[in-house]
Amino acid sequence: SILYVKRKQNEPPIVPYWIPVIGSAITMGMDPIKFYRKYQQEYGNYFTFILLGKRMVTCLGSEGNNFVFNAKLANASAEAAYKSLTVPVFGKGVVYDVHNSVLMEQKKFVKAGLSNENLRAYVPMIEMETKNYFSRWNKQSDIQDVHKATAELIIMTASKCLLGEEVRSKLDESFAQIFHDLDGGFKPVNFLFEDLPLPSNKLRDQAHVKMRHFFMDIMKDRREKGITDRTDIMQYLTTHCQYKDGRKLSDEESAHIMIAMLMAGQHTSSTTTAWALLYLASQPNLFNELRKEQIEVFGSLDEPLTFDGIKKLTLHDNVVRESLRLRPPIFNVIRKVLRDLPIPGTQYVIPKDSYIQSILAISHRSEGYFENAETFNPNRWVDFDQNVKERDDDLVDYGFGVLHSASAKSPFLPFGAGRHRCIGEPFAYLQIKTIIAVFVRMFDLELYKNKFPECDFTTMIVQPKDPLVQYTRRDN
Ligand code: HEM
Repeated sequence: SILYVKRKQNEPPIVPYWIPVIGSAITMGMDPIKFYRKYQQEYGNYFTFILLGKRMVTCLGSEGNNFVFNAKLANASAEAAYKSLTVPVFGKGVVYDVHNSVLMEQKKFVKAGLSNENLRAYVPMIEMETKNYFSRWNKQSDIQDVHKATAELIIMTASKCLLGEEVRSKLDESFAQIFHDLDGGFKPVNFLFEDLPLPSNKLRDQAHVKMRHFFMDIMKDRREKGITDRTDIMQYLTTHCQYKDGRKLSDEESAHIMIAMLMAGQHTSSTTTAWALLYLASQPNLFNELRKEQIEVFGSLDEPLTFDGIKKLTLHDNVVRESLRLRPPIFNVIRKVLRDLPIPGTQYVIPKDSYIQSILAISHRSEGYFENAETFNPNRWVDFDQNVKERDDDLVDYGFGVLHSASAKSPFLPFGAGRHRCIGEPFAYLQIKTIIAVFVRMFDLELYKNKFPECDFTTMIVQPKDPLVQYTRRDN
C-alpha cells in the first residue's frame, strides 16, 4: 500500500503506527523523550519511525551519535536535510545552499571573527545590556516570565556584539518586526514540506529581503564613512574574508551569514539561559555559591566583569553545561542518507533517502553515562572533567575554564561534533555566563508556586512552558 511503509530486508525495525501517512508523528510529538526511550528499550539504539511518509532512522547512545556526526559526506548530507527549512530564511550562497566545502570556509571566517580579542570587547557590552534590561524588574519582588526576558535580552546582546551597534539601535523599531517575521518562518513544518504556501512563509520571504537590505545598507554606509574599528562580525566579514580561490566574500553573502548566525544563536542561547535560571531557581542556595565564586575571582560583586574573570568562573560554567545536558536546545540533529548505508556493528542497512537523526537528550539523560541523570547537579562536571581528561584524546580547550570533548563518541554533545560542529560555542558560553553573573548580582530567584516548567516540544528549539519565576531584588 502507498499509505504504509513496508520494511525492507535488513533495514532497522520500524516502530508500529496506526494512522497511515502521518505515521508516528502524534505519539512521538506528545512526549518524544518517552517515545525514544520506550523504543530504545524494545529495539536497541537503532530503529525507524515514519514521519509523514519519511523514514526517520533514530540513532541513539554515544555510538548512534558517532554514526550521525561522523557520517561521510558521500553517505549522508546535512544540506539535503536542512535546505527547505533554512535556505529561504538565511538566503542564497551560504550554509546549506552551497557545497559543504564552501560552508567549511564560511565557518572558518566566522570562527576567526569570533577571536578572543573580539570576545574580550563583548563582556562589558553584555554586562551593560543585562543591567539595563533588568532595571525594568524594579519592584522589590515580583513574578516574571523568565524566558520572555532572556529572549528579549539575548537579541539585544547578540545584535550589539555580533551584528553591530547600528542593528542594536534599531531593535526597538523596524528591526524587531523583521526578526519576528523571519523567525515565524523558521519552524519544523518547513523541514517536512518544501515551499508551503503558508501566510507565515510569505512574511518570512519579505522579511528575508528586508533584513538583507538592512545589513547591506549598513555595510555601504560604513564603507562611505571609512569605519573600520568595530569588533562585530559584520566588520570582520566585510573586510577580512577571501575564499581559497581568491574571491572575496560579497556583501550579500556577508549579510546572509549574519542572518544565519542570528537564527542559529538566538533561540539556542535564550532557551539555555532561561533553563539555567529556572534550574537555579529550583536550587536557590546556588545563588550564594555563584556570588561566592565571583567574590573569589573579582574581589567584590561591584567590580566590572572582564573576559579573564569570566573565564575563571568554573561553577558558572558548570551551571551552563548542566543546563545544556538536561535541556540541549537542538533536539534532533538530522542528515539525509544519500546511498544505502550499513550501520557498523549491526546487520542493518539504512535505505537511501531515509533520514538519520541523533537525539542528544537521550544520551545526555541516560543513567549509563550520568549518575542520577535526571538531577540538576552542576558539580558532577568537576569529576567528569577529571575522568574525561584521562580517557579522551580529543579534548578542546576553548579557554573557558572547562574542556569540551570534540569527539563524536562523547555522550555529551550539545554543540554537535564533526564537520558540522557549532562554531558559536565560545560566544554562547561567554554570553550566557556573563548574563548569569550579572543576574545573580542583582537578584535572588524562586520558582513560582514551586513549579518547574515542562518542555514545549512543538517549537524548533525545546522551550519551557509558562516559565514563571519570583524574583527578589538585592540592591534596594
Ligand atoms: C551548529 C548547537 C549557538 C552557529 C550547531 C550544531 C549544534 C549547535 C547542535 C550542529 C548541528 C548539526 O550537526 O546538524 C548550539 C547551541 C548553542 C549554539 C546549543 C547555544 C547554546 C550558536 C551561536 C552561533 C551558532 C551563538 C553563531 C554565532 C552555528 C553554526 C553551525 C552550528 C554556523 C554550523 C552548522 C553546520 O556546519 O552545518 N550548533 N549552537 N550556534 N551553530 Fe550552533
